[in-house]
Amino acid sequence: MTIPKIKVSPSLLSCDFSRLGEEIRAAVDAGADMIHCDVMDGHFVPNITFGPPVLASLRSHCDVLMDVHLMIDAPEEYVKNFADAGADIITFQVEATRHPHRLITQIKDLGCKAGVVLNPGTPEETIEYLANMVDMVLLMTVNPGFGGQSFIPEMLRKIENVRAMIGDRDLEVDGGIDDKTAPAVIEAGANVLVAGSYVFSGSYSYREAIERLKAAGA
Ligand code: DX5
Ligand code: ZN
Repeated sequence: MTIPKIKVSPSLLSCDFSRLGEEIRAAVDAGADMIHCDVMDGHFVPNITFGPPVLASLRSHCDVLMDVHLMIDAPEEYVKNFADAGADIITFQVEATRHPHRLITQIKDLGCKAGVVLNPGTPEETIEYLANMVDMVLLMTVNPGFGGQSFIPEMLRKIENVRAMIGDRDLEVDGGIDDKTAPAVIEAGANVLVAGSYVFSGSYSYREAIERLKAAGA
């Protein structure tokens, strides 16, 4: 099996919200392959961020894929708004909807790539039947809701299991990813690295941080 190339998707959650457009452009100039947009509704997770109007206004600043991670209840009611806002990839939490299979079809019919997200406590078997229809699986490696939390090491085995399940599809990891955890997640089979605090509020320049993450897979 060929593991797809390592991509970095900086999470806007840790950027300067007063300068979102500039922050996106800086991350793209620094080598970001996608821009990870964390949408939180204060119900599915105990935090609130932004929604379709903000993403629509950012679309023209983002000339890489807009990777929209929905941490919201009833995502099926909102995916059209996110597609209209310009999302390229829409991932939803499998725990937040009764009919994930139907929702993947719905997202694809809207012209977007579709992915499912699993919380740390959700067994990977839950999505086995979806493995051949998703464009990406996103594994939460922290409990969703906030940036800057510590990677949960028990997720490494889950990454291995999901890689075995999805072949060469994209496997994204989100939470606590930095130059210390990146080698292990890549070794386990992840190829899309979300990084919020490491890129936007860490001790390296955006370019250096992104390069260090990519180098972890070399
Ligand atoms: C957490 C979000 C993440 C978050 C990651 O709920 O889904 O995307 O921004 O932040 P770091 O990289 O700081 O753990
Ligand atoms: Zn995220």
